Amino acid sequence: MTSERSPTKKQKTEQSTTMASAPEQFEGFVIHSKDKWSDFTKEKFTPKVFEDNDVDIESECCGVCGSDVHTITGGWGDLAVSPICVGHEIIGKVLRVGPKVKGIKPGDRVGVGAQVQSCMKCPQCKSDNENYCPHMVDTYGAPYNIGGADSGKAMKDKDGNQIWSQGGYSSHARVHQQFVFPIPDNMPSHEAGPMMCAGLTTYSPLKRAGTRPGKKVAIVGIGGLGHFALLWAKGLGAEVWALSHTPGKKEEALKLGADHFVSTKDKDWAKPLAFTFNFILNCADMTNEFDLKTYMSTLAVNGAFHNVGLPDKPLPEMMAQDFTSNGSSIGGSHIGSKKEALEMLKLASEKNLHPMIEQIDISEAGCKKAVEKVKVNDVRYRVTLVGFKKAFHTK
Ligand SMILES: NC(=O)c1ccc[n+]([C@@H]2O[C@H](COP(=O)([O-])OP(=O)(O)OC[C@H]3O[C@@H](n4cnc5c(N)ncnc54)[C@H](OP(=O)(O)O)[C@@H]3O)[C@@H](O)[C@H]2O)c1
Ligand SMILES: [Zn+2]
Ligand SMILES: [Zn+2]
Repeated sequence: MTSERSPTKKQKTEQSTTMASAPEQFEGFVIHSKDKWSDFTKEKFTPKVFEDNDVDIESECCGVCGSDVHTITGGWGDLAVSPICVGHEIIGKVLRVGPKVKGIKPGDRVGVGAQVQSCMKCPQCKSDNENYCPHMVDTYGAPYNIGGADSGKAMKDKDGNQIWSQGGYSSHARVHQQFVFPIPDNMPSHEAGPMMCAGLTTYSPLKRAGTRPGKKVAIVGIGGLGHFALLWAKGLGAEVWALSHTPGKKEEALKLGADHFVSTKDKDWAKPLAFTFNFILNCADMTNEFDLKTYMSTLAVNGAFHNVGLPDKPLPEMMAQDFTSNGSSIGGSHIGSKKEALEMLKLASEKNLHPMIEQIDISEAGCKKAVEKVKVNDVRYRVTLVGFKKAFHTK
């Protein structure tokens, strides 16, 4: 017996044969050298081999993350591969799914963040911590293995060259189903894109820190990540402070959900806040220039200063004694899990939470403009590259 919801064998066959296929080569805006970090050119590249758990996506838009800029400027080290296509806040339409994919079908609108694979076997992968898998594959600049992230066998193209992951300033994405997130219908794509990295990276630590009514939370650095953190911290019910070195961001920070705004340029800004915060989420990029002891002094007893911002340089040196006056600690985290991504999307959809997004059409000039704006802290508060169908002549 079949119901409306369970297709007949004939319908199933029709569905699989009507799956559109992605082209053999994908096309993206790439960088060749960190010395020319904003000179993009449009080029073709070979995607990974399509495997049983993969989902092919025709991309519609992609957010521009601070990490894209660290990567192309060489701030975190030399380019892993050249040319490199960055971008890991992708939204698009599913074209085809591998035989082992469950719950995602052609035509679905989905998103992909900063991770595209993990081993799916280790204790981290088995406990909704796949973002800490030792075999994780980043969305761009990571070598693929054939037959699984931990197989140890390099995936090669037809000329015998290693295939690397390439990111979302591109026409298509091919991603393991675990890292493909369905997007709620009421969410515009250009807003959902930046949630895939900036949103998830801030939601995960706020959730794990027990952010809820009664908690006092400070968000440091109101950029792409920080502005999402304000939305989530408020959405989860905490009392929220925005700590920024840009006084002009006050009005928008309050609109996004901050109850209070503190300009860290003001002398003695921390004094009235001594022993206040249960959790400080540091989304700023330049922590190496911070007087960290001052920030630590604003933590309540056993409070934590948590880094998601990943500067090019080491954290300032501290003494063990600097943590003893309030029993505080310093930590950090890397993106989030699929479980948390789905929770975040539900929270945003149900509470009607909207980020502030600037849209720029993708092109060589558009990519240049976007990354240069991020570099000089001139984005309010995230750029999403749009207009992919026109740029890549996809349907
Ligand atoms: N852990 C992870 O998994 C993960 C994931 C994604 C991104 N990241 C990292 O998170 C960081 C932020 O990324 P983003 O995309 O949000 O970048 P962004 O939009 O450029 O925001 C960075 C913010 O840092 C603050 N800032 C910049 N220069 C500063 C300075 N000299 N002193 C103090 N604060 C300064 C600014 O906020 P104010 O003007 O308000 O001070 C700025 O808006 C980057 O390091 C990125 O690589 C980490
Ligand atoms: Zn990112
Ligand atoms: Zn794993």
